[in-house]
Amino acid sequence: MSKGDNINDIIDHKLFSEKDIHEMCVRLGKQLTEDYAGKKPLVVGALKGAIYFLTDLTRQMDVAHQLDFLDVSSYGDGFESSGKIKVVTDLAADVKDRDVLIVEDIVDTGLTLKFMKDLIKERGAKSVKCCAMLNKEARRNVDVDVDYFGSEVGNEFVVGYGLDFLNMYRNLPYVGVLKSEVIQKYVNK
Ligand code: PRP
Repeated sequence: MSKGDNINDIIDHKLFSEKDIHEMCVRLGKQLTEDYAGKKPLVVGALKGAIYFLTDLTRQMDVAHQLDFLDVSSYGDGFESSGKIKVVTDLAADVKDRDVLIVEDIVDTGLTLKFMKDLIKERGAKSVKCCAMLNKEARRNVDVDVDYFGSEVGNEFVVGYGLDFLNMYRNLPYVGVLKSEVIQKYVNK
């Protein structure tokens, strides 16, 4: 195994511990339980980043719901958003007249969320909201509501708990800031 293969070695510092994220899920789950009572929402996980947060969040929601997944691609090269978004794997469910809750790991520029919300609205959903673990408001460049979120985050490259760098490091059990040298190593390749 070469240096850099150990996932904890690539972290500069931790931002949100497992306990912090659990507390976010408890607080958000309580709010969603109240807001979606009796609505049987369709919870849509945005693949792939949302899966870790989704499984923890939904287990804190005392409300009957159904699950589905949507995979749209937004990042062209792993560093910056290409700005172009397309559906990679579509929903299985019909969203017509449904209350839909999109679950995201992070909302950054907002392009991905706006694309997903518009798509689901166009298909006739009754309501479309989003619950994100993290909100990077400073990077927003489209007008889109992040209806619920766990925490605001600054303009740093964060990985873990679903968040990736080149599709790696999602399985870190916390959210941390990636060492700049790790990014440089790949930028210079
Ligand atoms: C990430 C993240 C959001 C999106 C946010 O997904 O999970 O979906 O980027 O960026 P934006 O607000 O600038 O559009 P990505 O497309 O990298 O796919 P992934 O979930 O598979 O990591």
